[in-house]
Amino acid sequence: MTETAPRERALTALLAARDRTTALTACVDDRELTAQHSPLMSPLVWDLAHIGNQEEQWLLRAVGGRPALRPEIDSVYDAFEHPRATRPSLPLLSPAEAHRYAADVRGRVLDILESAALEGAPLVDSAFAFGMIAQHEQQHDETMLITHQLRAGPAALTAPEPPRGDTRGLPAEVLVPGGPFTMGTSAEPWSLDNERPAHEREIAAFHLDTTPVTCGAYLAFMADGGYEEPRWWAPEGFAQIRRHALTAPLFWQYEDGVWLRRRFGVTEPVPLDEPVLHVSWYEADAYARWAGRRLPTEAEWEKAARHDPASGRSRRYPWGDEDPTPAHANLGQRHLRPAPAGSYPHGASPLGVRQLIGDVWEWTSSDFLPYPGFSAFPYREYSEVFFGSAHKVLRGGSFGVDPVACRGTFRNWDLPVRRQIFAGFRTARDAEPDGVRPAGHGSGSPGHRRQPPPGARGAA
Ligand code: AVJ
Ligand code: FE
Repeated sequence: MTETAPRERALTALLAARDRTTALTACVDDRELTAQHSPLMSPLVWDLAHIGNQEEQWLLRAVGGRPALRPEIDSVYDAFEHPRATRPSLPLLSPAEAHRYAADVRGRVLDILESAALEGAPLVDSAFAFGMIAQHEQQHDETMLITHQLRAGPAALTAPEPPRGDTRGLPAEVLVPGGPFTMGTSAEPWSLDNERPAHEREIAAFHLDTTPVTCGAYLAFMADGGYEEPRWWAPEGFAQIRRHALTAPLFWQYEDGVWLRRRFGVTEPVPLDEPVLHVSWYEADAYARWAGRRLPTEAEWEKAARHDPASGRSRRYPWGDEDPTPAHANLGQRHLRPAPAGSYPHGASPLGVRQLIGDVWEWTSSDFLPYPGFSAFPYREYSEVFFGSAHKVLRGGSFGVDPVACRGTFRNWDLPVRRQIFAGFRTARDAEPDGVRPAGHGSGSPGHRRQPPPGARGAA
Protein backbone atom coordinates (compact mmCIF):
# COMPACT_ATOMS: atom_id res chain seq x y z
CA MET A 1 0.00 0.00 0.00
CA THR A 2 1.35 3.43 -0.84
CA GLU A 3 2.37 5.52 2.15
CA THR A 4 1.64 8.83 0.48
CA ALA A 5 -1.10 10.81 2.20
CA PRO A 6 -4.39 10.87 0.25
CA ARG A 7 -4.38 14.64 -0.32
CA GLU A 8 -0.92 14.58 -1.84
CA ARG A 9 -1.63 11.42 -3.81
CA ALA A 10 -4.80 13.03 -5.23
CA LEU A 11 -2.96 16.20 -6.22
CA THR A 12 -0.16 14.25 -7.93
CA ALA A 13 -2.65 12.05 -9.80
CA LEU A 14 -4.77 14.98 -11.01
CA LEU A 15 -1.72 16.94 -12.20
CA ALA A 16 -0.25 13.91 -14.00
CA ALA A 17 -3.53 13.25 -15.78
CA ARG A 18 -3.79 16.85 -16.96
CA ASP A 19 -0.21 16.87 -18.23
CA ARG A 20 -1.03 13.85 -20.34
CA THR A 21 -4.34 15.28 -21.59
CA THR A 22 -2.50 18.44 -22.59
CA ALA A 23 0.18 16.45 -24.44
CA LEU A 24 -2.43 14.42 -26.31
CA THR A 25 -4.33 17.52 -27.44
CA ALA A 26 -1.44 19.96 -28.03
CA CYS A 27 0.24 17.81 -30.68
CA VAL A 28 -2.50 18.27 -33.30
CA ASP A 29 -4.21 21.36 -34.74
CA ASP A 30 -7.80 22.50 -34.16
CA ARG A 31 -9.05 20.80 -37.30
CA GLU A 32 -7.71 17.47 -36.03
CA LEU A 33 -9.14 18.08 -32.58
CA THR A 34 -12.65 18.55 -33.95
CA ALA A 35 -12.47 15.91 -36.71
CA GLN A 36 -13.96 12.47 -36.38
CA HIS A 37 -11.05 10.15 -37.06
CA SER A 38 -13.22 7.04 -36.76
CA PRO A 39 -16.94 6.46 -36.12
CA LEU A 40 -15.74 4.27 -33.21
CA MET A 41 -14.30 7.30 -31.44
CA SER A 42 -15.30 10.76 -30.26
CA PRO A 43 -13.61 13.87 -31.63
CA LEU A 44 -10.65 14.56 -29.31
CA VAL A 45 -12.24 17.85 -28.28
CA TRP A 46 -15.29 15.94 -26.98
CA ASP A 47 -13.07 13.84 -24.69
CA LEU A 48 -11.35 17.00 -23.47
CA ALA A 49 -14.55 18.79 -22.44
CA HIS A 50 -16.10 15.55 -21.13
CA ILE A 51 -13.07 15.15 -18.83
CA GLY A 52 -13.75 18.66 -17.50
CA ASN A 53 -17.47 18.05 -17.19
CA GLN A 54 -17.11 14.82 -15.18
CA GLU A 55 -14.66 16.61 -12.91
CA GLU A 56 -17.10 19.48 -12.49
CA GLN A 57 -19.97 17.14 -11.64
CA TRP A 58 -18.10 15.03 -9.10
CA LEU A 59 -15.51 17.31 -7.55
CA LEU A 60 -17.03 20.79 -7.82
CA ARG A 61 -20.69 19.91 -7.36
CA ALA A 62 -20.85 16.61 -5.43
CA VAL A 63 -17.76 17.02 -3.21
CA GLY A 64 -17.40 20.82 -3.17
CA GLY A 65 -21.10 21.66 -3.03
CA ARG A 66 -20.57 24.38 -5.65
CA PRO A 67 -23.23 25.45 -8.16
CA ALA A 68 -22.93 24.27 -11.76
CA LEU A 69 -20.52 26.32 -13.89
CA ARG A 70 -22.02 25.34 -17.22
CA PRO A 71 -25.21 23.35 -16.59
CA GLU A 72 -26.26 23.73 -20.23
CA ILE A 73 -23.39 21.56 -21.49
CA ASP A 74 -23.96 18.56 -19.21
CA SER A 75 -26.13 16.80 -21.77
CA VAL A 76 -23.66 17.37 -24.65
CA TYR A 77 -20.99 15.54 -22.67
CA ASP A 78 -23.23 12.77 -21.35
CA ALA A 79 -21.81 9.59 -22.88
CA PHE A 80 -25.16 7.81 -22.59
CA GLU A 81 -27.22 10.42 -24.39
CA HIS A 82 -24.94 10.53 -27.41
CA PRO A 83 -23.21 7.52 -29.00
CA ARG A 84 -19.66 8.23 -30.16
CA ALA A 85 -20.53 8.25 -33.87
CA THR A 86 -22.99 11.15 -33.38
CA ARG A 87 -20.77 13.39 -31.26
CA PRO A 88 -19.26 15.45 -34.12
CA SER A 89 -22.71 16.90 -34.87
CA LEU A 90 -23.27 18.16 -31.29
CA PRO A 91 -22.83 21.83 -30.37
CA LEU A 92 -19.37 21.13 -28.93
CA LEU A 93 -17.18 23.68 -27.21
CA SER A 94 -14.39 24.82 -29.53
CA PRO A 95 -10.86 23.59 -28.70
CA ALA A 96 -10.04 26.92 -27.03
CA GLU A 97 -13.30 26.90 -25.03
CA ALA A 98 -12.83 23.25 -24.03
CA HIS A 99 -9.30 23.93 -22.78
CA ARG A 100 -10.48 27.00 -20.87
CA TYR A 101 -13.43 25.12 -19.36
CA ALA A 102 -11.30 22.16 -18.20
CA ALA A 103 -8.68 24.53 -16.76
CA ASP A 104 -11.33 26.62 -15.00
CA VAL A 105 -12.85 23.52 -13.38
CA ARG A 106 -9.39 22.29 -12.40
CA GLY A 107 -8.41 25.58 -10.75
CA ARG A 108 -11.50 25.45 -8.53
CA VAL A 109 -10.97 21.74 -7.78
CA LEU A 110 -7.45 22.37 -6.53
CA ASP A 111 -8.86 24.97 -4.11
CA ILE A 112 -11.40 22.44 -2.86
CA LEU A 113 -8.77 19.72 -2.51
CA GLU A 114 -6.65 21.92 -0.25
CA SER A 115 -9.22 21.92 2.53
CA ALA A 116 -11.79 19.21 1.76
CA ALA A 117 -12.49 16.65 4.49
CA LEU A 118 -11.05 13.37 3.24
CA GLU A 119 -12.90 11.11 5.64
CA GLY A 120 -16.38 10.68 7.03
CA ALA A 121 -18.22 9.76 3.82
CA PRO A 122 -17.51 7.05 1.23
CA LEU A 123 -17.22 9.59 -1.60
CA VAL A 124 -14.34 11.42 0.08
CA ASP A 125 -12.71 8.75 2.27
CA SER A 126 -9.03 8.51 1.27
CA ALA A 127 -9.79 11.14 -1.42
CA PHE A 128 -11.76 8.51 -3.39
CA ALA A 129 -13.65 10.95 -5.64
CA PHE A 130 -10.41 12.71 -6.56
CA GLY A 131 -8.80 9.37 -7.36
CA MET A 132 -11.85 8.30 -9.35
CA ILE A 133 -11.69 11.48 -11.44
CA ALA A 134 -7.94 11.13 -12.02
CA GLN A 135 -8.60 7.56 -13.20
CA HIS A 136 -11.45 8.79 -15.39
CA GLU A 137 -9.20 11.36 -17.06
CA GLN A 138 -6.47 8.75 -17.60
CA GLN A 139 -9.00 6.33 -19.08
CA HIS A 140 -10.06 8.99 -21.56
CA ASP A 141 -6.38 9.69 -22.24
CA GLU A 142 -6.02 6.06 -23.28
CA THR A 143 -9.16 6.50 -25.40
CA MET A 144 -7.57 9.58 -27.00
CA LEU A 145 -4.41 7.57 -27.62
CA ILE A 146 -6.57 5.04 -29.50
CA THR A 147 -7.96 7.93 -31.56
CA HIS A 148 -4.38 8.94 -32.36
CA GLN A 149 -3.68 5.39 -33.53
CA LEU A 150 -6.77 5.50 -35.80
CA ARG A 151 -5.93 8.92 -37.20
CA ALA A 152 -4.51 9.08 -40.75
CA GLY A 153 -1.42 11.08 -41.60
CA PRO A 154 2.07 11.39 -40.23
CA ALA A 155 3.02 10.72 -36.62
CA ALA A 156 2.08 13.33 -34.03
CA LEU A 157 3.43 11.38 -31.04
CA THR A 158 6.86 9.89 -30.43
CA ALA A 159 8.39 7.91 -27.57
CA PRO A 160 11.52 5.87 -26.94
CA GLU A 161 11.54 2.12 -27.55
CA PRO A 162 10.64 -0.08 -24.58
CA PRO A 163 13.41 -2.14 -22.97
CA ARG A 164 14.03 -5.70 -24.10
CA GLY A 165 14.18 -8.21 -21.26
CA ASP A 166 16.36 -11.29 -21.06
CA THR A 167 14.13 -14.21 -22.01
CA ARG A 168 16.73 -16.98 -22.03
CA GLY A 169 15.42 -20.13 -20.41
CA LEU A 170 11.91 -18.74 -20.03
CA PRO A 171 9.41 -21.64 -20.08
CA ALA A 172 6.42 -21.37 -22.44
CA GLU A 173 3.93 -21.84 -19.61
CA VAL A 174 3.65 -22.20 -15.85
CA LEU A 175 1.44 -24.43 -13.73
CA VAL A 176 -0.80 -22.49 -11.38
CA PRO A 177 -1.70 -24.95 -8.61
CA GLY A 178 -5.34 -25.45 -7.70
CA GLY A 179 -6.91 -24.04 -4.56
CA PRO A 180 -8.66 -20.98 -3.24
CA PHE A 181 -7.52 -17.37 -3.59
CA THR A 182 -8.90 -13.96 -2.72
CA MET A 183 -10.33 -12.18 -5.78
CA GLY A 184 -11.17 -8.49 -5.84
CA THR A 185 -10.49 -6.02 -3.08
CA SER A 186 -12.17 -4.33 -0.14
CA ALA A 187 -9.00 -2.51 0.89
CA GLU A 188 -7.59 -0.69 -2.13
CA PRO A 189 -8.76 2.90 -1.47
CA TRP A 190 -9.18 3.95 -5.09
CA SER A 191 -10.56 0.66 -6.39
CA LEU A 192 -13.70 1.15 -8.46
CA ASP A 193 -17.03 -0.44 -7.62
CA ASN A 194 -16.67 -3.44 -9.95
CA GLU A 195 -13.41 -4.54 -8.22
CA ARG A 196 -15.18 -4.88 -4.87
CA PRO A 197 -15.66 -6.65 -2.57
CA ALA A 198 -12.84 -9.12 -1.88
CA HIS A 199 -14.18 -12.67 -1.96
CA GLU A 200 -12.82 -16.19 -2.11
CA ARG A 201 -12.70 -18.23 -5.34
CA GLU A 202 -11.77 -21.85 -5.75
CA ILE A 203 -9.63 -22.30 -8.87
CA ALA A 204 -8.71 -25.67 -10.38
CA ALA A 205 -5.06 -26.11 -11.38
CA PHE A 206 -4.30 -24.76 -14.85
CA HIS A 207 -1.40 -23.86 -17.10
CA LEU A 208 -0.92 -20.27 -18.25
CA ASP A 209 1.35 -18.82 -20.94
CA THR A 210 4.39 -17.11 -19.42
CA THR A 211 4.00 -14.21 -21.87
CA PRO A 212 1.31 -12.77 -24.09
CA VAL A 213 0.92 -14.43 -27.51
CA THR A 214 3.35 -12.87 -30.00
CA CYS A 215 2.80 -11.53 -33.50
CA GLY A 216 5.01 -14.37 -34.74
CA ALA A 217 2.84 -17.03 -33.12
CA TYR A 218 -0.27 -15.28 -34.43
CA LEU A 219 1.23 -15.26 -37.95
CA ALA A 220 1.58 -19.03 -37.69
CA PHE A 221 -2.17 -19.24 -37.03
CA MET A 222 -2.81 -17.04 -40.06
CA ALA A 223 -0.40 -19.05 -42.23
CA ASP A 224 -2.14 -22.26 -41.20
CA GLY A 225 -5.39 -20.92 -42.67
CA GLY A 226 -6.78 -19.87 -39.31
CA TYR A 227 -9.08 -17.24 -40.82
CA GLU A 228 -10.60 -19.76 -43.26
CA GLU A 229 -11.34 -22.52 -40.79
CA PRO A 230 -14.75 -22.13 -39.11
CA ARG A 231 -14.04 -24.81 -36.51
CA TRP A 232 -11.66 -22.50 -34.64
CA TRP A 233 -14.20 -19.70 -34.38
CA ALA A 234 -17.23 -18.84 -32.32
CA PRO A 235 -20.03 -18.58 -34.94
CA GLU A 236 -20.54 -14.82 -34.43
CA GLY A 237 -16.79 -14.33 -34.73
CA PHE A 238 -16.60 -16.23 -38.00
CA ALA A 239 -19.57 -14.22 -39.27
CA GLN A 240 -17.71 -11.00 -38.40
CA ILE A 241 -14.49 -11.95 -40.23
CA ARG A 242 -16.52 -13.06 -43.26
CA ARG A 243 -18.70 -9.94 -43.30
CA HIS A 244 -15.70 -7.61 -43.17
CA ALA A 245 -13.27 -9.91 -45.04
CA LEU A 246 -10.82 -9.83 -42.11
CA THR A 247 -7.62 -11.82 -42.54
CA ALA A 248 -5.26 -10.24 -39.97
CA PRO A 249 -5.22 -7.97 -36.90
CA LEU A 250 -6.37 -4.38 -37.33
CA PHE A 251 -3.71 -2.06 -38.81
CA TRP A 252 -1.88 -4.95 -40.56
CA GLN A 253 -1.39 -5.08 -44.32
CA TYR A 254 0.40 -7.53 -46.61
CA GLU A 255 2.78 -5.96 -49.10
CA ASP A 256 5.42 -7.51 -51.35
CA GLY A 257 5.53 -10.71 -49.35
CA VAL A 258 5.82 -9.05 -45.94
CA TRP A 259 3.28 -8.26 -43.24
CA LEU A 260 3.44 -4.60 -42.25
CA ARG A 261 1.57 -2.70 -39.59
CA ARG A 262 0.72 0.94 -39.09
CA ARG A 263 1.51 2.25 -35.61
CA PHE A 264 0.87 5.90 -34.72
CA GLY A 265 1.48 7.09 -38.27
CA VAL A 266 4.52 4.88 -38.98
CA THR A 267 4.39 1.77 -41.17
CA GLU A 268 6.85 -0.95 -40.18
CA PRO A 269 7.32 -4.72 -40.49
CA VAL A 270 5.26 -6.69 -37.97
CA PRO A 271 7.67 -7.45 -35.09
CA LEU A 272 7.59 -11.20 -34.54
CA ASP A 273 8.54 -11.20 -30.86
CA GLU A 274 6.13 -8.47 -29.74
CA PRO A 275 2.76 -9.32 -28.14
CA VAL A 276 0.05 -9.21 -30.79
CA LEU A 277 -2.21 -6.14 -30.55
CA HIS A 278 -5.50 -5.07 -32.08
CA VAL A 279 -7.22 -8.43 -32.16
CA SER A 280 -10.84 -8.93 -31.19
CA TRP A 281 -11.97 -11.34 -28.49
CA TYR A 282 -13.13 -13.58 -31.35
CA GLU A 283 -9.67 -13.61 -32.91
CA ALA A 284 -8.05 -14.35 -29.53
CA ASP A 285 -10.55 -17.13 -28.86
CA ALA A 286 -10.02 -18.65 -32.33
CA TYR A 287 -6.23 -18.57 -31.99
CA ALA A 288 -6.45 -20.29 -28.62
CA ARG A 289 -8.69 -23.05 -30.00
CA TRP A 290 -6.32 -23.56 -32.96
CA ALA A 291 -3.43 -23.86 -30.50
CA GLY A 292 -5.33 -26.57 -28.59
CA ARG A 293 -5.80 -24.17 -25.72
CA ARG A 294 -8.30 -21.62 -24.42
CA LEU A 295 -8.42 -18.11 -23.02
CA PRO A 296 -7.99 -17.94 -19.23
CA THR A 297 -11.01 -16.99 -17.18
CA GLU A 298 -10.88 -13.65 -15.45
CA ALA A 299 -10.48 -15.40 -12.07
CA GLU A 300 -7.61 -17.54 -13.37
CA TRP A 301 -5.89 -14.43 -14.68
CA GLU A 302 -6.25 -12.67 -11.34
CA LYS A 303 -5.02 -15.66 -9.37
CA ALA A 304 -1.92 -15.88 -11.58
CA ALA A 305 -1.37 -12.14 -11.15
CA ARG A 306 -2.02 -11.73 -7.42
CA HIS A 307 -1.86 -14.97 -5.46
CA ASP A 308 1.32 -15.39 -3.46
CA PRO A 309 1.78 -19.12 -2.84
CA ALA A 310 4.23 -18.41 0.02
CA SER A 311 1.85 -16.33 2.13
CA GLY A 312 -1.48 -17.42 0.67
CA ARG A 313 -2.58 -13.81 0.29
CA SER A 314 -3.44 -11.78 -2.77
CA ARG A 315 -1.08 -8.92 -3.58
CA ARG A 316 -1.77 -5.64 -5.35
CA TYR A 317 0.47 -6.51 -8.32
CA PRO A 318 2.31 -9.59 -9.59
CA TRP A 319 5.58 -8.35 -8.04
CA GLY A 320 4.12 -7.40 -4.67
CA ASP A 321 2.36 -4.43 -3.08
CA GLU A 322 4.73 -1.74 -4.35
CA ASP A 323 3.32 0.76 -6.88
CA PRO A 324 4.52 0.18 -10.46
CA THR A 325 7.86 1.67 -11.49
CA PRO A 326 9.34 1.72 -15.01
CA ALA A 327 11.26 -1.45 -14.07
CA HIS A 328 8.03 -3.37 -13.35
CA ALA A 329 5.80 -2.74 -16.32
CA ASN A 330 5.22 -0.92 -19.60
CA LEU A 331 2.52 1.53 -18.53
CA GLY A 332 1.69 5.21 -18.83
CA GLN A 333 2.42 5.85 -22.52
CA ARG A 334 6.16 6.01 -21.79
CA HIS A 335 6.47 3.87 -24.93
CA LEU A 336 4.12 3.67 -27.89
CA ARG A 337 4.21 -0.11 -28.24
CA PRO A 338 4.35 -3.26 -26.15
CA ALA A 339 7.79 -4.54 -25.15
CA PRO A 340 8.97 -7.85 -26.66
CA ALA A 341 7.36 -10.89 -25.07
CA GLY A 342 9.24 -11.91 -21.94
CA SER A 343 10.42 -8.41 -21.04
CA TYR A 344 10.09 -6.93 -17.54
CA PRO A 345 11.59 -9.72 -15.40
CA HIS A 346 11.18 -7.45 -12.33
CA GLY A 347 7.45 -7.43 -12.92
CA ALA A 348 7.13 -11.23 -12.92
CA SER A 349 4.64 -12.98 -10.63
CA PRO A 350 5.87 -15.43 -7.94
CA LEU A 351 5.35 -18.29 -10.43
CA GLY A 352 7.29 -16.43 -13.11
CA VAL A 353 4.48 -15.13 -15.33
CA ARG A 354 5.60 -11.97 -17.14
CA GLN A 355 3.88 -8.84 -18.45
CA LEU A 356 0.59 -9.46 -16.68
CA ILE A 357 0.55 -5.73 -15.96
CA GLY A 358 1.15 -3.34 -18.85
CA ASP A 359 2.03 -3.89 -22.54
CA VAL A 360 -1.36 -5.20 -23.79
CA TRP A 361 -4.82 -5.52 -22.27
CA GLU A 362 -5.51 -9.25 -22.13
CA TRP A 363 -8.83 -10.68 -23.25
CA THR A 364 -10.25 -13.24 -20.83
CA SER A 365 -12.98 -15.78 -21.54
CA SER A 366 -15.26 -14.16 -18.93
CA ASP A 367 -18.37 -12.04 -19.31
CA PHE A 368 -18.38 -8.78 -17.36
CA LEU A 369 -20.41 -9.64 -14.25
CA PRO A 370 -20.68 -8.22 -10.73
CA TYR A 371 -18.87 -9.91 -7.86
CA PRO A 372 -21.02 -11.34 -5.06
CA GLY A 373 -21.93 -8.42 -2.81
CA PHE A 374 -21.43 -5.79 -5.55
CA SER A 375 -23.00 -2.43 -4.98
CA ALA A 376 -22.88 0.40 -7.52
CA PHE A 377 -20.82 3.34 -6.33
CA PRO A 378 -20.95 6.22 -6.86
CA TYR A 379 -22.93 5.90 -10.10
CA ARG A 380 -24.61 3.00 -11.91
CA GLU A 381 -23.34 4.11 -15.29
CA TYR A 382 -19.71 3.31 -14.53
CA SER A 383 -20.11 -0.47 -14.31
CA GLU A 384 -23.56 -1.73 -13.49
CA VAL A 385 -25.29 -0.87 -16.75
CA PHE A 386 -22.61 -2.88 -18.63
CA PHE A 387 -22.93 -6.12 -16.65
CA GLY A 388 -24.11 -9.10 -18.68
CA SER A 389 -23.02 -11.35 -21.51
CA ALA A 390 -22.50 -8.62 -24.13
CA HIS A 391 -19.11 -7.52 -22.80
CA LYS A 392 -15.93 -9.55 -22.20
CA VAL A 393 -13.44 -8.71 -19.46
CA LEU A 394 -9.91 -7.51 -20.24
CA ARG A 395 -7.19 -7.48 -17.60
CA GLY A 396 -3.76 -6.09 -16.88
CA GLY A 397 -3.63 -2.78 -18.75
CA SER A 398 -1.71 -1.71 -21.84
CA PHE A 399 1.28 0.54 -22.55
CA GLY A 400 -1.37 3.27 -22.91
CA VAL A 401 -2.91 3.09 -19.43
CA ASP A 402 -1.55 5.07 -16.51
CA PRO A 403 -0.61 3.21 -13.32
CA VAL A 404 -3.37 5.06 -11.42
CA ALA A 405 -5.94 3.18 -13.51
CA CYS A 406 -4.23 -0.22 -13.49
CA ARG A 407 -3.74 -2.81 -10.74
CA GLY A 408 -4.13 -6.52 -10.15
CA THR A 409 -7.83 -6.11 -9.41
CA PHE A 410 -8.66 -3.61 -12.17
CA ARG A 411 -11.36 -4.74 -14.62
CA ASN A 412 -11.83 -3.42 -18.13
CA TRP A 413 -14.48 -4.62 -20.55
CA ASP A 414 -15.49 -4.27 -24.17
CA LEU A 415 -17.55 -5.86 -26.91
CA PRO A 416 -15.98 -9.05 -28.34
CA VAL A 417 -15.83 -7.53 -31.85
CA ARG A 418 -13.65 -4.59 -30.82
CA ARG A 419 -10.16 -4.37 -32.33
CA GLN A 420 -9.06 -0.73 -32.01
CA ILE A 421 -8.31 -1.03 -28.28
CA PHE A 422 -4.78 -1.95 -27.18
CA ALA A 423 -5.73 -5.57 -26.60
CA GLY A 424 -3.89 -8.84 -26.99
CA PHE A 425 -4.13 -12.06 -24.98
CA ARG A 426 -2.40 -15.07 -23.52
CA THR A 427 -3.70 -18.65 -23.48
CA ALA A 428 -4.31 -21.31 -20.85
CA ARG A 429 -5.16 -24.99 -20.59
CA ASP A 430 -6.59 -27.21 -17.88
CA ALA A 431 -4.00 -29.07 -15.82
CA GLU A 432 -4.19 -32.82 -16.24
CA PRO A 433 -5.03 -34.75 -13.06
CA ASP A 434 -1.94 -36.00 -11.18
CA GLY A 435 -0.06 -38.71 -12.98
CA VAL A 436 -2.09 -38.55 -16.19
CA ARG A 437 -0.20 -37.34 -19.24
CA PRO A 438 -2.17 -35.33 -21.74
CA ALA A 439 -3.02 -37.29 -24.88
CA GLY A 440 -1.65 -34.69 -27.25
CA HIS A 441 -3.31 -31.32 -27.07
CA GLY A 442 -6.91 -32.09 -27.81
CA SER A 443 -8.39 -33.71 -30.87
CA GLY A 444 -6.48 -33.09 -34.04
CA SER A 445 -5.39 -29.60 -33.03
CA PRO A 446 -1.84 -28.54 -33.70
CA GLY A 447 -0.92 -28.29 -30.04
CA HIS A 448 0.82 -25.58 -28.13
CA ARG A 449 2.70 -23.45 -30.62
CA ARG A 450 4.84 -20.82 -29.02
CA GLN A 451 7.06 -19.94 -31.94
CA PRO A 452 6.17 -19.39 -35.56
CA PRO A 453 7.46 -22.08 -37.89
CA PRO A 454 10.43 -20.92 -39.97
CA GLY A 455 9.26 -18.58 -42.68
CA ALA A 456 5.97 -17.77 -41.00
CA ARG A 457 6.75 -14.11 -41.48
CA GLY A 458 5.37 -12.99 -44.78
CA ALA A 459 3.13 -15.98 -45.11
CA ALA A 460 -0.19 -15.22 -46.73
C1 AVJ B 1 -13.75 1.10 -18.34
C2 AVJ B 1 -12.64 1.77 -20.35
C3 AVJ B 1 -14.70 0.55 -20.47
O1 AVJ B 1 -14.09 4.12 -21.61
O2 AVJ B 1 -15.98 3.09 -21.70
C4 AVJ B 1 -14.79 6.38 -19.12
C5 AVJ B 1 -14.16 3.91 -18.82
N1 AVJ B 1 -16.25 5.16 -18.08
N2 AVJ B 1 -15.85 7.15 -18.80
C6 AVJ B 1 -14.94 3.42 -21.11
C7 AVJ B 1 -15.04 5.13 -18.67
C8 AVJ B 1 -16.73 6.42 -18.18
C9 AVJ B 1 -14.76 2.86 -19.70
N3 AVJ B 1 -13.98 1.58 -19.71
FE1 FE C 1 -16.13 9.19 -19.38
